[in-house]
Amino acid sequence: MTTKRGLFVVLEGMDRAGKSSQCRRLVDHLNSIGHRTELMRFPERDSAIGSLIGQYLGRKIELDDHAVHLLFSANRWEFRPHILDTLASGVNIVCDRYAYSGIAFTAAKADGPDFHWCCQPEVGLPAPDLKIFLSVSPEAQASRGGFGAERYEVADFQRRVGEAYARLMRLEDQAGGSCPAWLTINADGAFDEVQQQLAKAVVAAIDCPRSAGPPAGLR
Ligand code: TYD
Ligand code: MG
Repeated sequence: MTTKRGLFVVLEGMDRAGKSSQCRRLVDHLNSIGHRTELMRFPERDSAIGSLIGQYLGRKIELDDHAVHLLFSANRWEFRPHILDTLASGVNIVCDRYAYSGIAFTAAKADGPDFHWCCQPEVGLPAPDLKIFLSVSPEAQASRGGFGAERYEVADFQRRVGEAYARLMRLEDQAGGSCPAWLTINADGAFDEVQQQLAKAVVAAIDCPRSAGPPAGLR
């Protein structure tokens, strides 16, 4: 009997949308009901490349916007074999941020790299089977306590990140077929309600048929 390959789910959204907590809870839930699932995150700071990214975000080093964009992308490429092996072994992956954060955060920079340039290093990375955007209103974002001290945790920059995500999702929805490429879940509400919506969508996707081979590459 061949093993059905794992489902690759990516969660995206702005800072303070509750992504990381929702991802952790989702992974625990899926494992508890018998769907073997691994949690991944980007940036994955636990590598040489990830450590440089951590120093940049913590304002310990300065880097050209293009250079740091390529580091974020390289951080995903270094885990590509792990993603493919995990999925091939039948284990699902829930990934806290992926290529879309890479594009949206760099493209949001004033006088930064061009949007289309930002997309190029991501081409060929394993494409997710399901992309979920956790949306959060500026009011809910503000009510969840202040941002941290990291480089991008600034309200005005986050607004531009939101615009860049919207552009990205519009482009992908235009390029796709009849069904939307993204599932958006409003994360303003209670944590448990958001979790229930997430779990329902992901379990339905796990149960769907999918190709036996590895996921296609991002285009
Ligand atoms: P974040 O998920 O917020 O990490 P933590 O939970 O440790 O704070 O990611 C850190 C920041 O990195 C966040 O502001 C988004 C940004 N980012 C990029 O700019 N490019 C990328 O490719 C990724 C994955 C994240
Ligand atoms: Mg953060």
